[in-house]
Amino acid sequence: MVAYNFDKIVERKNTNCVKYDILNNIFGNDQLKPMWVADMDFETPEFVIEDIKRRLEHKILAYSIFPEEFFTSITNWLKRQHNWQIHKEQIVASQGVVPALASCILAFTNPGDKIIIQTPVYFPFSSSILNNGRQINNNKLRYENQEYSIDFENLEKIIDSRTKMFILCNPHNPVGRVWRRDELQKIADICLKNNILIISDEIHADLVMPEHKHIPMASLSEEIANITITTYSASKTFNLSGLSTAFAIITNPKLRQAFYNKLDDIHIAGSNVIGTVATISAFTHGEEWHKQLITYLHNNYLFVKKYFENNIDCIKIANLQGTYLLWLDCNALKMNDDELARFFIHEIGLGLNSGISFGAGGSGFMRMNIALPLSELILAVEKINCKIFDKIKNIL
Ligand SMILES: Cc1ncc(COP(=O)(O)O)c(C=O)c1O
Repeated sequence: MVAYNFDKIVERKNTNCVKYDILNNIFGNDQLKPMWVADMDFETPEFVIEDIKRRLEHKILAYSIFPEEFFTSITNWLKRQHNWQIHKEQIVASQGVVPALASCILAFTNPGDKIIIQTPVYFPFSSSILNNGRQINNNKLRYENQEYSIDFENLEKIIDSRTKMFILCNPHNPVGRVWRRDELQKIADICLKNNILIISDEIHADLVMPEHKHIPMASLSEEIANITITTYSASKTFNLSGLSTAFAIITNPKLRQAFYNKLDDIHIAGSNVIGTVATISAFTHGEEWHKQLITYLHNNYLFVKKYFENNIDCIKIANLQGTYLLWLDCNALKMNDDELARFFIHEIGLGLNSGISFGAGGSGFMRMNIALPLSELILAVEKINCKIFDKIKNIL
């Protein structure tokens, strides 16, 4: 069995990389260890690189189609990983999950309609809604004892006749929840009762910590599958996000056709020749790599959790069930969001996402990406530890 090397440090600076090469624009400081945007500092797996190289031997990268294998590699992966049986005809490829979400908003709602999200949540949910002239119906998550839950009472209250869609994040970026079956069932029951379409963004489905299990919303029942569009990609799990290749799974043929028509209308239904090869390769050969990745990420999480409990207990970490994004509760530092951001950037020297950018409920939090070699992660938490004492001694 191959032992994959997640300890390897790869220089990413000066590679036109979002995470490392625009630090000055984003943070006003380019001397930071970046732990923000959701990609990994691990090399894309060698078997994917080899398959891409093989494809490059045919030296034409012109317009291409999605081969049969693209669809079967997805159906096989979903069956093996999530015991979810779908048919290949139910898959519609897209040039990214966010383009698919925005296309759903355009295809299935009208300007002025309300769309439910649950903040704090991945910020393009809000911007895709607002930029397209729709309204946000926010069902803010509840936070208690370092764990998030859904406020079902409020959810029923905020729904009115203009509420047409629910964009669910499962697993939930940035709070790290993997929604349980009973929670998903409750959401679905409310949506069925109120004629609300569910868009279930499951891009983090394969990044679930060992003691948890991802349940695809559409796998709950035929009736629920009928009102659900699932968005998915190999990009997060196999570090392929620069290849702009994702897909939606849509059981209901009417919804599927309408979704495809929208992609076609705005000319984003085409394929990325390399992204297609990479997706097939990842889902076909990626099982062992994926297993070892999860073990590594889980170990990183346990390390940070213990380190914070022992050394930095004024910052609490929300329990991580899924994703590689830690949600740090910094409220005890008693700083406002600007001060907190400045503290991390200019005093500690780390580039994290400010919690407030994820919407209501994010104030006082920071999001830290832990998909990096453990040796680098140790340096990062030591940097926090070094600076935190000076900061808190004034408020103790
Ligand atoms: C919940 C969620 N959806 C979508 C995306 C991005 O998807 P894509 O790059 O395919 O548009 C991310 C990236 O962090 C994410 O966290």
